[in-house]
Amino acid sequence: MLSACTQQPLPEANYDVIPQPKEVKLTEEKPFVLQGKTKIHYEEGLQREAQFLSEYIKDITGIKLDCHASPRSARNDVSNAILLLIDSIGFDQTEAYEINITSKQVVIKGADAAGVFYGIQTLRKSLPIGQLPTANCQLPTAVIRDWPNFPYRAMHLDPCRHFMDLDSVKIYIDMLAMHNMNQFHFHLTEDQGWRIEIKKYPELTKVGAYRNGTVIGRNGRLYDTIRHGGFYTQEQLRDLVQYAAERHVNIIPEIDLPGHMQAALAAYPKLGCTGGPYEVWKRWGVSDDVLCAGNEETMQFVEDVLNEVMDIFPSQYIHIGGDECPKVRWQKCPKCQKKIKELGIKKDARFSAEDYLQSYVMNRMAKVVEARGRRVIGWDEILEGNVSESAIIMSWRGTEGGIEAARKGHDVIMCPGSHLYFDYYQSEDPSTEPSCVGGYLPVSRVYEFQPMPKELTPEQQKHIIGLQANIWTEYITSFHHVQYMAMPRMDALTEIQWNNPDLESRDFNALVERCRRMAQLYDLYHYNYAKQIFNPQVWADTVVPNLATHKPITLREQPNEQYAYNGAPVLVDGEKGRCAYTSGRWLGFWGQPLDAVIDLEQNATLSYVRFNALVNKGSWIYNPSQATVLVSDDGKKYRKVGQQEIEISTWMDKDGVFSYELEFEPVTARYVEVIIKCHDLPKDHDGYGHPAWIFVDEIEIF
Ligand code: ACM
Ligand code: ZN
Repeated sequence: MLSACTQQPLPEANYDVIPQPKEVKLTEEKPFVLQGKTKIHYEEGLQREAQFLSEYIKDITGIKLDCHASPRSARNDVSNAILLLIDSIGFDQTEAYEINITSKQVVIKGADAAGVFYGIQTLRKSLPIGQLPTANCQLPTAVIRDWPNFPYRAMHLDPCRHFMDLDSVKIYIDMLAMHNMNQFHFHLTEDQGWRIEIKKYPELTKVGAYRNGTVIGRNGRLYDTIRHGGFYTQEQLRDLVQYAAERHVNIIPEIDLPGHMQAALAAYPKLGCTGGPYEVWKRWGVSDDVLCAGNEETMQFVEDVLNEVMDIFPSQYIHIGGDECPKVRWQKCPKCQKKIKELGIKKDARFSAEDYLQSYVMNRMAKVVEARGRRVIGWDEILEGNVSESAIIMSWRGTEGGIEAARKGHDVIMCPGSHLYFDYYQSEDPSTEPSCVGGYLPVSRVYEFQPMPKELTPEQQKHIIGLQANIWTEYITSFHHVQYMAMPRMDALTEIQWNNPDLESRDFNALVERCRRMAQLYDLYHYNYAKQIFNPQVWADTVVPNLATHKPITLREQPNEQYAYNGAPVLVDGEKGRCAYTSGRWLGFWGQPLDAVIDLEQNATLSYVRFNALVNKGSWIYNPSQATVLVSDDGKKYRKVGQQEIEISTWMDKDGVFSYELEFEPVTARYVEVIIKCHDLPKDHDGYGHPAWIFVDEIEIF
């Protein structure tokens, strides 16, 4: 009695997990106490799930529970037990589950084994992580009912730009399972490396899996000489398929064709239009060298590869790529042109003959896939032409492709770059971050994503089967970094995949609190993750008030509409943009100057103008070529008071935010005009022939 009175309360489970269960009804009986003597009883077919549960509980509490196979009748009365069983529980959908926690038992019922597995994930995530291992913990009594909104819930991984070893890929699958995701999009081929053993074409991995160096920085002129590569054997991949299936994850292999094939061409030059020679690409971007669509041998090659891929992967979905396929080789290739004639392909107002030739290739390969009872997925470019309706469209260049596809009757997977490209920065100040491709995509933006376009009718909306995030690895060289890019953005993603809450009911602060508890689980498993949402950044360098701050400002030339945000007032709002040009604090201009007039609202004496510009050479953003300051008393007649020429940044110079200053003899005036001009891209830039972008923020006048 005495010991009972002085006992500390046991650590308690909390069902407010990620993704949040749809219904949690607390029943307020005496809690269930999880302890070393608790047993797991499972129905036939759920042995693996029972073992997972036992392992998860041991990871968190240090307690290893015994698992027993037992028929349903034998366990209705057992107390101090967790029961796993399959039961339709009134759901007419797969993957649903119910957890009934009483003082005596925890019963996890799934509509199928996957449902039981997700019930187990919820139980696992609800345990008091971080307060344990202790002997016991208690589970408040409750009935939890839960089911997914989208049948397709995925993450993508590119192990081609930088190879990720098999053990890392297994951990990635563990991460997906923990987030209730059921599909893993495995991007296996690229210009920079071929990663899957194909028995009929051994050179693909012997030659195509390795490159002899990698461009330094953001596609500059210099290369390292480090051989990089690796591949997965068919045996390893079969093992991986099994590993994933045990965790209710299906692996969707992607063979990206007919573009992004330079590594295959390096292995078999005859498959290309020019015959080579080719090398496994050492740069990033989109290679002009693609598969020759006019060569029957090339078509046979693709067919053979897809057949070996389907032998390894039982997936219902097979991804055949289709993105970013330049047509410059096809335009000049006699074989491709002959094929266009043979097929009677004609260009029309919307698409070129070569676009239709790509459709021909994609449709031909779709038939190969469909002949084996599978379905193809392709990136949204495959809508450019006449793709067959059975193809599933992956909408990555925004959601527009997905909307068009759903209207045409295609099933659609949403993964727009604007919200779901997890290779973008998570901080506005990349100097504090491991380098990545660019952009700015914080957890909050992921959580704003609306996967169901309002433009679609309810019938068309049924074609949106799900969503995924993509992790491309040009600038992500280790799995440690992959994890950092994935989490906690995956937490926001799974909330949308599993629950798709109304925009109004999404509470970001509540999400962050739940992410905090997920982070304890990440710590437990030594998963790397980004911590910005837990330590909100406060920028110290708001500008000092100056003559321009919050004054009326007009632009004679409008910014590019992609980067116009809230328009001119951004330039004098007292907040400086950081390195992320998509933060909304910068205005972007392409091929035209920024020409701003600031009304100081009364005559003032000024002698100094300062502004910031961004340099991100890989994204075509350069420093300005010239800055000019003019003043006027009446807003009509202007006189020049200062001008500066600015030399173009070179590959040897750093990217970042730079300040430009113009000093002049003091003048008194009411209106100040600032004109900032852009350079043309230099000869050593991929975009040579085009103007550079300028991104300008905060204009200060003293
Ligand atoms: C893609 O990001 N090229 C699909
Ligand atoms: Zn060709």
